Amino acid sequence: MRLIFFSFSIAITLIIGSAWSPSVSLHERVSDLLLALGDTSEYHIPDLNMENVSVERGRDLVLEGRSKVHGKRSRLQSKYFTCIACHNVEREDPNLADPSPEDRLAYVEEKNLPFLQGSPLYGVVNRTSYYNGDYVKKYGDLVKPTRKDLREAIQLCAVECSQGRALKPWEIESVLAYFWTIDLKVDDLNLNDVEKRSLEEALHTGESREQAIHLIKSKYQHEAPATFLDPPVDRTAVNEDADATNGRKIYELSCLHCHMDNSFAFFRLDRSKFTFRYLQKHLSDYTEHSVYQVARYGTSPKGGKRGYMPQYTAEKLTDSQLADLRAYIDLEAR
Ligand code: HEC
Ligand code: HEC
Repeated sequence: MRLIFFSFSIAITLIIGSAWSPSVSLHERVSDLLLALGDTSEYHIPDLNMENVSVERGRDLVLEGRSKVHGKRSRLQSKYFTCIACHNVEREDPNLADPSPEDRLAYVEEKNLPFLQGSPLYGVVNRTSYYNGDYVKKYGDLVKPTRKDLREAIQLCAVECSQGRALKPWEIESVLAYFWTIDLKVDDLNLNDVEKRSLEEALHTGESREQAIHLIKSKYQHEAPATFLDPPVDRTAVNEDADATNGRKIYELSCLHCHMDNSFAFFRLDRSKFTFRYLQKHLSDYTEHSVYQVARYGTSPKGGKRGYMPQYTAEKLTDSQLADLRAYIDLEAR
């Protein structure tokens, strides 16, 4: 199939000559374009020959926590969460090469998506390392096998992040197959015309392919970095520059995603003065009732297998965004 596309693109280029529309666009997927350029990266390819494996079952597992085989529904993967409690399956960053929580907040608001602690599953197959940075502090040796192996990352997250049962081999392959439908597309890379033309050249002349591969790979992150932060040293201090309007977005798109809109948490949050007063009252506590505490340290799953709140790393919520959230809580508690 790829070969056919490849020769088709050459044919188009030959026919249209210099006035072509770039045949780079014939490669919808970044991985296909890289392959056409001779890239030898290894990918996590699902075993579609394994019994019961399908994209649809993978999608159902990720979105709903269970799937159907021969009309029979499988056991729920987790009592507490589905994968989309913490991960978007859509693109969430306007610039994939240099994502920032500030840009992401504006982007997800516009796209009507939540603002979450986990990295997007969109494009996860294009990454090469998982549970990066400080996650080793949280999960210790458990992250080692996941660093280079997406299957292990999926399994770790099913058991540890989702606090649920391990996935069966066919379920993992199905999730992987589904992930290949939400892989990065060439359109996501924001290539300009000059860049497209240089890729086009490399594709049909076979020259400068290394540079072309390098160019493509510079357009997205190959691993999601993770930096753990501590809550502010002084939890009572009010930041006068904080922006409550921004804080509202975080509350609506992140906190309420789990605490109100879905049943991912028992602790209920809403838009009442009573709730904001509760949050404000406990902000400066050194317990799990404090927004500062849970935002930076999360909560721990109590008594073995339980729901818990994942922390926000610096890459998912900046200190200044946390100050904005506080300003919003203070405003609404008034
Ligand atoms: C309660 C929150 C939560 C749930 C539920 C959850 N995850 Fe995660 N997941 C995380 C966090 C936090 C990380 C840490 C690394 C990151 O995403 O940046 C992570 C990491 C991952 C990674 C590695 C991503 C990377 O680039 O490092 C994969 C793959 C993954 N999860 C898949 C899943 C799947 C599949 C499910 C459902 C079976 C799931 N997760 C459910 C929070 C969650
Ligand atoms: C991915 C889902 C998720 C997101 C997003 C999330 N939480 Fe939580 N949160 C939880 C879960 C699960 C718990 C554990 C207790 C429970 O089940 O309610 C928890 C616990 C808490 C607690 C402790 C409750 C108590 O007093 O014991 C607070 C406070 C809290 N969250 C506030 C927030 C705020 C503020 C935000 C937004 C910045 C937020 N949460 C975002 C899932 C989430």
